[in-house]
Amino acid sequence: MQNITTKIKKSLYLWRRSQVPIQQPNRISKIDNLIIFLICILISVISSYKLLLISPLNISDVISWFFNFTEALISSCILILISKKENPTISSRQIILIITLLLASQASKLAFASTISPLSMIIPPALIISQGMGSITALAWVSIASFIWPDPTVTINNNLFFILLVCASVVSLFGARIRSRAQLLQLSILVPIGSLLSRLILIGKEKIFFVDKQEFVFANGDIFSDSLLLAIVMLFTILFIPIFESIFGLLTKARLLELADKEKPLIRRLSLEAPGTFEHTLLICGLAEEATRIIGGDIDLIKTGALYHDVGKLHAPNWFIENQDGSKNPHDEIDDPVRSAEVLQAHVDEGLKYARKNRLPKPIENFIPEHQGTLKMGYFFHKAKEKKININENDFRYNGPIPQSKETAILMLADGCEAALRAMNINASDNEALETISKIIYSRQKDGQLDDSNLSKGEIFLIKRAFLNVWKRIRHRRIQYPTTKNNTFS
Ligand SMILES: [Fe+2]
Ligand SMILES: [Fe+2]
Repeated sequence: MQNITTKIKKSLYLWRRSQVPIQQPNRISKIDNLIIFLICILISVISSYKLLLISPLNISDVISWFFNFTEALISSCILILISKKENPTISSRQIILIITLLLASQASKLAFASTISPLSMIIPPALIISQGMGSITALAWVSIASFIWPDPTVTINNNLFFILLVCASVVSLFGARIRSRAQLLQLSILVPIGSLLSRLILIGKEKIFFVDKQEFVFANGDIFSDSLLLAIVMLFTILFIPIFESIFGLLTKARLLELADKEKPLIRRLSLEAPGTFEHTLLICGLAEEATRIIGGDIDLIKTGALYHDVGKLHAPNWFIENQDGSKNPHDEIDDPVRSAEVLQAHVDEGLKYARKNRLPKPIENFIPEHQGTLKMGYFFHKAKEKKININENDFRYNGPIPQSKETAILMLADGCEAALRAMNINASDNEALETISKIIYSRQKDGQLDDSNLSKGEIFLIKRAFLNVWKRIRHRRIQYPTTKNNTFS
């Protein structure tokens, strides 16, 4: 009996934990809420108004219109909720993009339902949404856009509807995982070919008219023209994805990888003007990547975020220990702990300025303040206490916020462990390294820095193991290999 009660309590605890938002949701302004609401109303009107055009109109028609209208409105709201659940930091611009695409597909279905294939109206927007907002949002969008049909009298072939759902699901699932523009191009060619072949099998050959018709665009039902039109629309969509990225702040995998290019001006500047910080960044990338892989997080996001986390140090590189050559330390020269703490906080504030100036996406920008959280600048705090300056502990803490996601929390832990691991003796044992890592992580936990990150105890254990594995790699790299007499290597 006691066993069952414990199990119920445990399940209730896990359920409650799963309901805690991983990240604080973005606030949506009243004007944006109004715009979103108006677009939802417009979608509902487009999806249902035809029922009011039946003459003579009787009460049962009005009731069925009301049901259709409400159904479309509720579906739009469900779509917004799903997108918010999958992307807790989704911005109002991105929600507007999702429902505007729904509005556009409803409007085009209304205008061209009998002339253009539904494949070309549903699949390309699904690609944009899966790239920017993830598979679940894209799948939800596809199901809502496919089932709310503006004109109930228009019915499409069941087989075609099945092919549409399969192709759109494939695009939604793969679209979110695609890591390069070349793979996108492959998808936009393979999906139309797949739809062509499956229609040949399911619908039959009698509907092939190839492109000897002049109006192939409006030849709905022609298997070849439908697939060709789909391929063309998908290729155009790929061309426009970078524009969507910059207007709506979408963070696609391809954009993340582009930002992670070390030839980007900001990263190049970091390597030239703050070489020590650049080296620290590269080591952190290795630690954070390994830890994120082991807990199943977003590796591309953390790799890019780690690369930009300390760009703010560019405002005064020589004020940070990793860039000093040991001759002089500006902190010693000014001998003012309060001023030194301000310089440390400035690397976060200036980093945010660099991020905005270089138009870095919000999820990357979040790594800049969250990797420091509200950590105490212990060294300068103790110095101030020694000097008996009347101080408040909060003046020696970073402004935060504390990490709001698993990825930013991992970066904070990697940032803390990097210097300690680098400084460790080459002969240190694995246990000593693990002890050092555990001490640093425990101090962050005790300080409440991981409270909003949703990292579980099991994940923290795995992160420690991942850091240890990286340490073993570093140690291996530092071991001097014996060379042959004439100093050649095989
Ligand atoms: Fe930092
Ligand atoms: Fe750092």
